[in-house]
Amino acid sequence: MIKKIQKILNKKNRGKIVCLTAYSKNIAEILDKHCDIVLVGDSLGSVLYEMDSTREVNLDMMILHAKSVRRGISKSTFVVDMPYKSFRNKTEAYKNAKKVMKETKCDAIKLEGGKKIFSIVKYLVEKNIPVMGHIGLLPQSQRGKFRYKGRNKIDRKNIFKDAISLEKAGAFSIVIECVEKSLARLISKSVKIPTIGIGASQDCDGQILVTDDLIGLTSNTPRFVKRYLNIRKLFNKSILKYKRDVINRKFPTKKNLY
Ligand code: KIV
Repeated sequence: MIKKIQKILNKKNRGKIVCLTAYSKNIAEILDKHCDIVLVGDSLGSVLYEMDSTREVNLDMMILHAKSVRRGISKSTFVVDMPYKSFRNKTEAYKNAKKVMKETKCDAIKLEGGKKIFSIVKYLVEKNIPVMGHIGLLPQSQRGKFRYKGRNKIDRKNIFKDAISLEKAGAFSIVIECVEKSLARLISKSVKIPTIGIGASQDCDGQILVTDDLIGLTSNTPRFVKRYLNIRKLFNKSILKYKRDVINRKFPTKKNLY
């Protein structure tokens, strides 16, 4: 586990860190071949369960999906998101993080927040739980429309302080979500731990996307997503072919029978 965290730390200023999300074993197996980090994000709430907000995701859901993902991971660093209200104080955070680590055998956990969770992150790190931070747009705290962060001086100062706090607390990396690019760049240059951007900057040490967005499974895609595949179109074609084969008695053939 520690080796995998060290590997990510070593990547600072030495090439880019490739990260994606997975919610199940089959996807994780494919990602594991290509990614440095595979994250079970609490985005699964909206992506898989049509929840209005990630606030509805609970620890049991995260553990269930992470156990499936675990089966597809061998070489990449495996990170699991801590859901809303699972880390409100040190005791709660430690109890839940330990449970996630034990049951899913992940390498690290991710927490949303900066300065406000400094003492929690520090405590977890002291207890040998590797922590990835998450600053900028925080879906667990966001009310209303999602807009990029770092629009004014105060906001920029706060986000910068969040990054410094997480580094001081001992986080091994920081996700920077939807932050104005020059600020994300400044943060990436200022901290010694890797930054992972999502709608942030090319100058982050790595990038992350929700895999379902990248392959075109989801329908509403924010500006920061690049679609690499239209899987819905491909999927539709094959299902239609199957349907025709069943109707026209072309499936199953002798080859498929006993
Ligand atoms: O929940 C999630 O998938 C995330 C990533 C988008 C960083 O936090």
